[in-house]
Amino acid sequence: MPNSLLSVSGKYAVRTYGCQMNEHDSERIAGLLEMDGLEQTDSFDDADVIVLNTCCIRENADNKLYGQLGNLKKLKEERPDLQIAVGGCLAQKDREIIQDKAPHVDVVFGTHNVARATGLLAEARISGPITEIIEESEVFPSALPVKRDASYAAWMTIQIGCDNSCAFCIVPAVRGREISRPYNELVTEVEELAASGITEVTLLGQNVNSYGRDLTLKLRGGELPPDAEDLAGKVWVAGSHTARPLFSDLLRSVSEVEGIRRVRYTSPHPKDLRPETITAMAEVAEICEHLHLPLQSGSDEVLSAMHRGYTADRYLAKVHAARLEIADLALSTDIIVGFPGESDSDFEKTLEVAAEARFDNAYTFVYSPRPGTQAAELVDKYVASSVTSTRMERLRKVIERSSRLGNESRIGHSEEVIVEGRSKRDPNMLTGRTRHNRLIHFPANRPIRAGSYAQVNVTAARTFNLMGELVEVTASPKHRTRIPVVAS
Ligand code: 5AD
Ligand code: SF4
Repeated sequence: MPNSLLSVSGKYAVRTYGCQMNEHDSERIAGLLEMDGLEQTDSFDDADVIVLNTCCIRENADNKLYGQLGNLKKLKEERPDLQIAVGGCLAQKDREIIQDKAPHVDVVFGTHNVARATGLLAEARISGPITEIIEESEVFPSALPVKRDASYAAWMTIQIGCDNSCAFCIVPAVRGREISRPYNELVTEVEELAASGITEVTLLGQNVNSYGRDLTLKLRGGELPPDAEDLAGKVWVAGSHTARPLFSDLLRSVSEVEGIRRVRYTSPHPKDLRPETITAMAEVAEICEHLHLPLQSGSDEVLSAMHRGYTADRYLAKVHAARLEIADLALSTDIIVGFPGESDSDFEKTLEVAAEARFDNAYTFVYSPRPGTQAAELVDKYVASSVTSTRMERLRKVIERSSRLGNESRIGHSEEVIVEGRSKRDPNMLTGRTRHNRLIHFPANRPIRAGSYAQVNVTAARTFNLMGELVEVTASPKHRTRIPVVAS
């Protein structure tokens, strides 16, 4: 059944900028386009419909988009029937700028209009360029069809929006208030995913571990309302008057679904990391022992100016508690360098905390002012780029050191690996992912299907990945795509 009123034949290409939430929205957009009869292509030259799913978290994302739109102008001149759509966070924020800078764009849609993407393309074929931005979410993207990138692993959005107000962050302005999906709906979705052969799920949310805060129910005479179980599953009673579901219970319920072997989540906020979540990670075998916990800065002054709601010591105490309880935990983080007003001594504290936390990996960003955010107004406190680039270099060295040490500590271990495909660098090698989310490359002299589980002995470590030797394949996926592997 075609989804929009006017279905077309031909090919589509979707380019995604930004985070996993966007990657997942793109899978939904692809699902809708396929329902309309279009076929996927990687090349813009072959595409009849091009969708750019944008991000606005940092300025370079804007620049990349406008660069790409510049390139597409020529293509549109050569092929006027080509349709170009721009969706996602930047579209939500900068709709007029996109129309002004790129009048050759046919459709601009926002973060809450994913469901309308193909309908808008159909309308634009008749009536010309359309911009439609809905401020509040109408359909949860998870209710839409999906074309997943992998047939063995899936992202599942459990919550959209963010109720925090980190001074540097544009997300609350473009993604809106936190809305959690009902508990039982999520468990049912995971059951369906597992039935289709998915073995790994990653629970997604901007502030994933505050899941359920907005589902808080009022108790009447100590009793739960009749729909409580659907909304809140195994309800955790917060006090004598309210009840809400807990993220840790959701992790447990999802892990109990038959066929699910790995559960991950991203990104949690340190201030909302509850002991129950750590205990669930320690107790439940399916939950991968990897915690991505954004630090942002190691300086209490900067953390306070950022409105992060924790100090460096509180962050480290949570890391310590997690390491004590969860055997063999891997830790990764996000850090911003050059937040307005960050002094040399603030930055030194970030280096100290990073060294103490021994991160296995870190996404490091130079602060990028986002108009409309609180920090962007602190113009007189902006840190010069010559300073941020030196700081960035120094931070990277600290991260690389702990990452390499973490990787070296795996040498001699046998790791459970999910096979992803052929190595991008060497077609004789396969690439897999360990439970710690480390990439591992290993030779294989026979075809192994993507989505298979294998035990791989770690033989060598690089800064950000591992090398290994296949011991045995322990489980094959239900689906049937083989990765051809050349014998080594
Ligand atoms: N500048 C630089 N980095 C940012 N992030 C969010 N907003 C900004 C910004 N304005 C980073 C944070 C966040 C990650 C997803 O992106 O570290 O955790
Ligand atoms: Fe942005 Fe802070 Fe919300 Fe994360 S928690 S999305 S950094 S406002």
